[in-house]
Amino acid sequence: ASFSKSEAEVSARKNMLRFSDDEDLPTNLKKNKPGSILRVEELDFIPACEIKSREAISAIHRAKTQLCKQQILNKTCLIQESNFYPEKLTNVCPHNEKSYGTYLGCFVDEKKMRLLSGFYGNYVSTNSPNSCLDICVQAGFPYAGVQYGSECFCGDTDPPDNAKLSDDACDMKCPANPSETCGGYFTMNIFETGLTKFQPQIPDTSNDKEESVRIIFLLTLNGRAVRQVNRLINALYKRNHYFYIHVDKRQDYLHRKLSVLETHFPNIKMAKKRFSTIWGGASLLTMLLTSMKDILALNWNWDFVINLSESDFPIKSLENLEKFLSVNKGFNFVKSHGREVQRFIKKQGLDKTFIECDTHMWRVGERKLPRGIVIDGGSDWIALSPNFVSYVANEKDELLSGLEIIFQHTLLPAESFFHTVLRNSRFCNTYVDNNLHVTNWKRKLGCKCQYKHVVDWCGCSPNDFKTEDWPRIQNTQDRQLFFARKFEPIINQEIINRVEQYIGFKDHLKIQNLESYWQSIYNVDDLTASSDDTLLSHSESIIRHNAKILAEEGCIIEPDIVIEITSYNYADVYKGNLILHKIYHNNVELSMETWYKPKKNLQLNFENRYVDNIKQFKVSSDYDQKEMIFRNLAGILGPLSEPTLSYKFSTNTLLEKRTENLTIVWLDPAGIIADLTDIHVDENNLTNFIKPNFRTPLLPGVWKVGMFEQSYLLASTKFLVTPLQYFGGKEISNQEVSILHGGSQNSYHNFSHIKLENFVPDQESAILSQKISQANVRRTKQDLKDWIDALSYEFYNVLGSCVKSSTNFKEKIKCGSHILEYCESTHWSSLTPDPKGSIGKLNKLSGRLD
Ligand code: UDX
Repeated sequence: ASFSKSEAEVSARKNMLRFSDDEDLPTNLKKNKPGSILRVEELDFIPACEIKSREAISAIHRAKTQLCKQQILNKTCLIQESNFYPEKLTNVCPHNEKSYGTYLGCFVDEKKMRLLSGFYGNYVSTNSPNSCLDICVQAGFPYAGVQYGSECFCGDTDPPDNAKLSDDACDMKCPANPSETCGGYFTMNIFETGLTKFQPQIPDTSNDKEESVRIIFLLTLNGRAVRQVNRLINALYKRNHYFYIHVDKRQDYLHRKLSVLETHFPNIKMAKKRFSTIWGGASLLTMLLTSMKDILALNWNWDFVINLSESDFPIKSLENLEKFLSVNKGFNFVKSHGREVQRFIKKQGLDKTFIECDTHMWRVGERKLPRGIVIDGGSDWIALSPNFVSYVANEKDELLSGLEIIFQHTLLPAESFFHTVLRNSRFCNTYVDNNLHVTNWKRKLGCKCQYKHVVDWCGCSPNDFKTEDWPRIQNTQDRQLFFARKFEPIINQEIINRVEQYIGFKDHLKIQNLESYWQSIYNVDDLTASSDDTLLSHSESIIRHNAKILAEEGCIIEPDIVIEITSYNYADVYKGNLILHKIYHNNVELSMETWYKPKKNLQLNFENRYVDNIKQFKVSSDYDQKEMIFRNLAGILGPLSEPTLSYKFSTNTLLEKRTENLTIVWLDPAGIIADLTDIHVDENNLTNFIKPNFRTPLLPGVWKVGMFEQSYLLASTKFLVTPLQYFGGKEISNQEVSILHGGSQNSYHNFSHIKLENFVPDQESAILSQKISQANVRRTKQDLKDWIDALSYEFYNVLGSCVKSSTNFKEKIKCGSHILEYCESTHWSSLTPDPKGSIGKLNKLSGRLD
């Protein structure tokens, strides 16, 4: 019954675990970071206690507002005093009284009989004694874990009342160097947890009798992909189903666009109370529970609530889903992690306290989960029954109140809350281990700590489905899976078209503009954000550019306010941006849309041996590590942007050597080297990115980036840092110009000893560049606009423009010798018909949207 591992082995494993644990964290959170002390001067309140947890101190340091610092501090004090979390909760799931056999375990302290395994809740069984050992090791005890027959059990921190010490307790040999924690072992009877995981009923396909089922689709949305959300609603809409829509409080664009639905459809409702639902945040659960309360108050007549995001899409027909759910009413669908509970707890950070404030989840330290209940979790995509929803949202018993405290301070709370409530409540026998979803996990890509600016944890995300992932969806044909995630048409729309056909969309090929995709980047009514200054400075320059082109044909227009900027893809290729703006033509106001595209800037040295292998060498911002693309497709950068270089090599680069050491050089518009970084390219990182090491504001103008092998130039690119015409939404002032356009050359390291011919200008041209650059800093008003225009002319091509048809003009508009096209009849304009991305018409017969 004991483990034959040597102490050294166990301790090595323990260290390894610690190490890998720590590895997972963003660098600024590593436990081994030198300890920091909380200075009272940085707080404008008197701390309620002395904080002991280093993590809490770090969180208080990093929190932006005093209110948030105070919240973290106060809660940490309560936790320190053990006044915060419940120590024990009761599992009221009816127990099965069948004895399971004998339980052997090590214990630390004979009187208290505390089990060494440190496992919370009831019992897990696993066939692997080694993983049982892991549980004990992770709990901090070198010798623990138990075995019974071929199975290994780990138990509660307290043995149940019916546990009794076996006669041979303490027979177990203590390890060579007995520690305080080594006691002996005991046996006890254990009982089944009472949970039965049900297999769902499979509908009888020979039976055509329509069983009715009414579903609430609880859409929890973020981003700007309104056309994709419309498409999702079109796919799932039926008169007797409902949509309850929560939009992240910060996403006013999406909220505005969707709010119109409420007035047209009695079965679509927008959540009135909105939350800033940050990734992995406690607010996601608060939002779900608040929405559920609201749903219950609506007195809708329903059988299931299913939550979906903007990146979910059905992979079976609505009829299939209805059939399946109609024979499974009363059940609750949640997917469990399928591994050892203790591992899940660790991996998920359930044994840590997180506090959400300042739209961040701050990790403040370890915590103990309550005894007496089973902790369970997995996916947060769920389908719940009305009775269960009414219980979790409206009742308040000991279990729910206790779990509420815990899950308000839990990372990714919706991934465990509903599972845990289900397993420990009277609803335990309605648990079905299926979330109805297939998820496109590619952990190598999706687990890159990409949310560390939002949560003190390394979170993972599934990848977007692309055309090549089609088999994965097709393989779910015979399984009870009805949705897939994630889909993003801006990444790949072809797969969505394919899925629609697969689930029975007819006449698909007749749909207008099926292969086009438009997504808004900016809208004049948006309530956000400072980055709009760059967008506006840039886009106004583009429309001036277009006006000049039209003027060449004698068409005189006066460009006016920018209304919307849209990103445009055709057949999954980025085709440029569209700027919808007002113009005056013969003193009449019209809406015009201008289409433009960034020029290509890659320059390869054709004499080098890599030339065929360099597939990408490009600078922009908002690099998405998971999808390996720039979200800033047009490369619109301003002095406050954070440029990133991404490069991609094809494999045969490395035929000669295993690793290539290359150097990346960043040259500012004044011809000074701003940064120099070595990169190592090998077969594991053929596609990668780097961020330069200099500060903002960036000097506006044309930057160059070169890739060198020794001093031999392989490839170069340039990028534009556009000067700002606006700052804080207003015309930029002279003082702001002198700060924001002055660059930060004093933050560069000194690379003046580096000579790179044909890349770094020689002394003479350097002096000239410097002079020009210094003069540029003083440019304001019209002079500033001219500078912006000259730069934007170098980097962007205007491809066309059109006018929105209006009642004023029935005929095509002749403007000089130019005929202005109507946007609605172009193939590219955002105003052209897009049936798949617009809410369909209600078909009175079928109750669906056509
Ligand atoms: C993964 C898992 O699939 C998911 O179960 C878990 O909750 C988070 O990790 P991921 O793709 O990373 O999902 O998250 P995403 O779908 O982008 O976001 C999850 C939910 O939070 C969505 O409903 C999304 O709309 C919402 N969200 C996310 C916001 O409301 N605001 C944000 O800033 C980010």
